This record gives sequence, structure tokens and C-alpha cells, in this order.
Amino acid sequence: METIALFTISALLLSALWVYAKSSKKAAPLPPGPFGFPIVGYLPFLRPNLHHQFTDLAHKHGPIFKLQLGSRLFVVVNSPSIAKEVVRDHDAVFANRSPPIAGRIGTYGGRDIAWSPNGTYWRDIRKLFVREMLSSANLRACYEHRREEVRKAIRSVRSRTGEAVNIGELASSTEIRVVERMIWGSTLGSDEAKIDQFGAEFREIMGKYIAIVAEPNISDFFPWLARFDLQRVEARMEGMVKLVDNIFDPIIKEGVRIVSEKSGSTTKREERKDFLQILLELKNRDDNAGKSLDFQAIKAMLLDIVIGATDTTATMVEWVMTSLLDNPEIMKEVQTELEENVGMNNIVEEIHLPKLIYLDAVIKETLRLYPALPLLLNRSPTQSTQVGGYTIPKDTTLFLNIHAIHRDPQVWDNPLEFRPERFLNQTSSGLDYTGNDHRFLPFGSGRRICAGIPLAEKMLVYILGSLLHSFDWHLSEGEKLDLSSKFLIVNKKSDPLIVVPTPRLSNFELYQ
Ligand code: HEM
Repeated sequence: METIALFTISALLLSALWVYAKSSKKAAPLPPGPFGFPIVGYLPFLRPNLHHQFTDLAHKHGPIFKLQLGSRLFVVVNSPSIAKEVVRDHDAVFANRSPPIAGRIGTYGGRDIAWSPNGTYWRDIRKLFVREMLSSANLRACYEHRREEVRKAIRSVRSRTGEAVNIGELASSTEIRVVERMIWGSTLGSDEAKIDQFGAEFREIMGKYIAIVAEPNISDFFPWLARFDLQRVEARMEGMVKLVDNIFDPIIKEGVRIVSEKSGSTTKREERKDFLQILLELKNRDDNAGKSLDFQAIKAMLLDIVIGATDTTATMVEWVMTSLLDNPEIMKEVQTELEENVGMNNIVEEIHLPKLIYLDAVIKETLRLYPALPLLLNRSPTQSTQVGGYTIPKDTTLFLNIHAIHRDPQVWDNPLEFRPERFLNQTSSGLDYTGNDHRFLPFGSGRRICAGIPLAEKMLVYILGSLLHSFDWHLSEGEKLDLSSKFLIVNKKSDPLIVVPTPRLSNFELYQ
């Protein structure tokens, strides 16, 4: 009896000790960071170029720091090793986003791919997009769209010989037409005028849309003030959403008509389905996939794809051309590579693209120094997690500052120099777009990596290769090259790049 009592008391004592030891084990602290005042948090004005300011703060506070802004906690990661912990070791926990309030309203309640929370809905729509629109087979089948649109771009430059060209506008109108033809080309019957009209209308509202989404609102920092602030943001965003609806609704209506006509017809129509028609057919199904797709979800997805593809690609074409004008000897080298692999009695075709190794390195070097999304899109952990030796509480908004990582002197030799060769040597073999080497993440990494890489990569090399093969480029008399940027989620040039082409090809008939 005594032995049992002694045993029970010892067991109780040991468990009490274990519980005490566990509870007194210190949780990792929050990351360091600049001083924040009670209630308002960190006060210095956050400059328009947020990524530069974050990089300056990283120099003071280290590879991971926190910022209290209002009642919200923000954490910024500035080193490859901590980025790896976030997107590889804890990718599932950090696969959520924390959309800004305007972004959520502007995407029909966050029903797009980019802002949807990690879950079945996001997985389904992302898979649908990658499988139906960007599969290798579909990209191959849509080559004609890319070919025609790039040729059209070159013809339009040629027809205005001597006139200065706005490179961003040229790239953006080319990219948007390629994407339009993939998403609703069959619905519009490849009606050139309509494709041009919708593209032009969309590009007109896109700049304003992005600016409004990028502008922070008071309820982004003080969620408890939402009931005073939300109505104002809603009113503003709903105006934008209406403009998007005015463009999308008539096309979707036409898609619905075609899909129902096809389903009622006994003879199979031969033409390819576009992405919109695939979505509309799925929506009509009675299974889970069909049930989660309504018109708003479809519009949110299309919006994401058009904006996600156009603004990033055009911005990068502009930064590559800017970097080449800043380094004329590198531009010459790209042109020599084009002469050798394409020839001057020929035009660039996609078959040539894998041979343009040096141009590929130039694009990568530009993505290193001027990534289109220098803070990627934010992440948010679904549970409190330890990263870099610090606690990141649940629901924190976390940024991976690739602007700092891509310019870190501990990672890159002479990081501010434009040297494409660094992507050609032995040590650079993992430096691709897969996000597996955490020194170089222009398209992000992990589950939330950019969903459009296969198209982005093709279009960047194809547009740039064609522009540089067909023309020499120089600034207008007296113009100075400007390398400054403005950050609106996408890191754009402050001033558009406007340059003058001189034809290099003797036979432009090839572009007819
Ligand atoms: C040069 C061109 C492009 C760049 C630099 C770029 C970059 C990025 C980055 C950095 C992200 C966030 C990744 C992360 O959070 O880890 C992203 C997300 C995304 N991108 Fe791209 N992108 C480009 C082109 C495209 C194109 C052409 C499309 C579509 C056709 C596209 C569709 C998307 C989508 C849907 C997402 C959201 C993915 C998700 O949250 O699951 N992007 N992109």
C-alpha cells in the first residue's frame, strides 16, 4: 500500500515538474525592429519606394525585422536562409495571404488566385489555370497568337521609323493581346478590332486600378476602424469594379451564348475552346468544381490573369531595355548572339529562344536588380511559427524582401553592377525561376510561386529578342537615361522609357 502511495506521489511530482518546465521554457522573442509608439506603432513616413525603405531598415535591424503599423504586425525577411525557412520549411503554414482591404474588394471578395486564402478553392482554381491555360500542350497550340502579336509589334515600330517608341506601352499592348486571345480569343472569333478595343479599354483602367489597390487604407492598419472606413473604400473600389464589369460582362455573355449553343448542338464544332469557355462549361457542371465557380469567381480569375501577366511582363521588358541602354557593350553582345543564332535574313521564332543563352542571362540579371515584385506578394502564417530564431505570430503580414536579397553583398559579388555573366558560370546552375535557390526569387517560391512562369519566360525572351534583332535603339538627342523607380506593388520605372529605333534588318518583308 505504502509503495503504491509513494509511486503515485512521485509520478504526480514528476508530471508537475514536467508541466512547469514546459511552461517556463521561454518562447522565442519577436524579431527586432524600429521603435513603435503605443497604438500608432512605427511613425516615420513610409516612402513610395517601400522596398528601398525596408532594405535600409534591414541594414539597421538585420535579416529579419518587425514593424508595428497601427495594431498590425508586419515582418520583413531580408536573407536567403530565412526566406528558405519561410517558403520551404514552413511553406504550408505561410501559404496564406493577407490581402489589403482594397485588393479584397477589387477581386470580388478575394476570389482570384493571388489573394485567395490557402485552401481547396485556391488549389482548384490555380490547378485549373495551370492545367487548362498554361500546359505545355496549350502553350504550343497558342504559339500562333504569340507569333502574330510579336510580328504586329515589330511592324508597328517599323512603320513609324524615326519616331520614338514607348517600350512599356508596346510590350503591354502586345502581352495583353496575347493573353486576351488565350482567354477569350475563340469567343470573340479572333475579331482583331474587338481584341484591340477591349485591350485598350482594359489598359486604360489598369494603371488606376493598381494604384488604388496599392494605396493603403486606414483599416489595413487598424482593422477595428473598418466600420468607419470600409464604406469609403468600398465606394472607391466598387467604381473600379464597375469599370471592369463593363469590359468583362459583354464578353462573358457572349461566352455563355456560345457554350450553350455548343452543348445543344449534335455536331461537334471544331474550333479550339478558349479559357473562358472552359470555365463556363465547368461552371455548368454539377460537381464540386462547378459549384465553386460562379460569374464573380470567373471574373476574379480573368482579372488576375490579365493584370498579373501584362503589368509585370511590360515592366520587365522596359527594365531590360533600360539596362541595355545603360550598358551598350552588353546590348551589342545580345545582338551578336541573335545574328549568330537567328541570322540577319530571318526573323526570331520561338524555336530560336532556347539558343539565346546570353539574352536569357541578361533578363535574369535584370530580374535580380529590378524585380517586378520586389516584395513578392505578402504571406501570412496560419499559426504562430518560429523563423530565424524568432516567433512570427499567427496572422502577421510577412514580406520576403527580394530587393534586399538580390543586392546582398554577402550573396552577390559587386551586387550593384550589371553583369549577366554571373548567370552563366558554374555556381549559377541553380539560379533559375523555380524558386529552389533562395538567393534568386524573382517569381517567388513554394506553393505560392508565380502561376504564369511558362508564359512569362517565353514572352520576355520573344519580345526582347525580336526588338533587339530588328532594331538598334538609342535615346533621343539630349535625353538622359533614368533608372529611378516607383513602387505600386509592381516596381515600375519612374518615367517611361522612350527610345528611337534604327532598322537593322534589310528585309522587313519577312514580318508581313
Ligand atoms: C515577368 C513576368 C512576371 C513576374 C516577374 C511575375 C512575378 C510573380 C510573383 C513574384 C508572384 C508572387 C509569388 C509569391 O508570392 O511567392 C506572382 C504571382 C502570380 N502570378 Fe506572376 N509574374 C509574371 C508573369 C505572370 C504571368 C504571365 C501570369 C499569368 C499568365 C502570372 C500570374 C500570376 C498569378 C495567378 C499569381 C498568383 C499565384 C498564387 O498566389 O497562387 N504572372 N507572380
